[in-house]
Amino acid sequence: MRIDIITIFPGMFAPVLNESIIKRAKSKGKVKINLYDLRDYTLDKHRKVDDRPFGGGSGMVMRPEPIFRAVEKIKSQSHKVRKQKIVLLCPQGERLTQKTAKRLAKNKHLILICGRYEGIDERVRQHLVSEEISIGDYVLTGGELPAMVLVDCLVRLIPGVLGDKNSLNFESFEGNLLEYPQYTRPAVFKRLRVPEILLSGDHKKIESWRKKEALKRTKQKRPDLLNERGVSNG
Ligand SMILES: C[S@@+](CC[C@H](N)C(=O)[O-])C[C@H]1O[C@@H](n2cnc3c(N)ncnc32)[C@H](O)[C@@H]1O
Repeated sequence: MRIDIITIFPGMFAPVLNESIIKRAKSKGKVKINLYDLRDYTLDKHRKVDDRPFGGGSGMVMRPEPIFRAVEKIKSQSHKVRKQKIVLLCPQGERLTQKTAKRLAKNKHLILICGRYEGIDERVRQHLVSEEISIGDYVLTGGELPAMVLVDCLVRLIPGVLGDKNSLNFESFEGNLLEYPQYTRPAVFKRLRVPEILLSGDHKKIESWRKKEALKRTKQKRPDLLNERGVSNG
C-alpha cells in the first residue's frame, strides 16, 4: 500500500510514522508513506497556500491551485497504479469507523489531503477529491491529526503488519461487538482475582465465556452496535 499525505505541516508526522507498528510496517515494505509539503506546489515567492473567502466572512480558505498541482505531481509519479483514491480529511465527511477503514484499506494507493484554516476551496472537494473522511463530530485546527488517525487505523489492517493475525479477528467492532474483558498476571492483585474460568485451561468454556461477556459489554456500552447486527438489545 502507498499513502501520500499533502500537508502544510509535514513536520507533525515524524513522531507517529517513525515509531511502533507503523515504523515496522514501513521497514518490512508493507506500506510506503510519503509526505508532500503543499508550499512546494505554490508558484509565488511567498509560497502562499490560502486567501480570503469570496463573499467575505472570517478566516482564510486554502487555494485550489497548489492542491491540484500536488495531486497531479503525485499521480504522474505513480504510473503503476492507475486509480488512486483521493481522500480529504474533513469534518463534513463520512465518519471513520472500522468498516470504513477496512473498505479504504483495500486501495493500493491513497492520497490524503489535510485541510487548514476555514477549510478548502470547494472546487477541490467537487473536482479532485474521491471521498471525504471525518474522524468525529468535532472540529480540529487541521487535517494532520485526522490523517495520522486514519493512517494508523489502515496500516494495522494490512496483512502481515500485526504479529498475530488473529488480533484483528477478536477486536472491538468485529462482528459489531466490543471486545471481551482482558486480564493478565498476577492472577490475584490487591485481593482482586481474575475470573476463575480464564485459569481453567478449558478453551471451549473460555471461548463461550468471552462471547457472553462481549455481548454483555456491548449491550451495556454500545447497544447501537447490536441493533446494526440485528440482535435485540432489550
Ligand atoms: C478548522 S477546520 C475547518 C472547519 C470548517 N470551517 C467547517 O466548519 O467544516 C480545518 C481543517 O481541519 C480538518 N478537520 C477538522 N476537524 C476534522 C475532523 N473532525 N475530521 C477530519 N478532518 C478535520 C479539515 O481538513 C479541515 O479542513
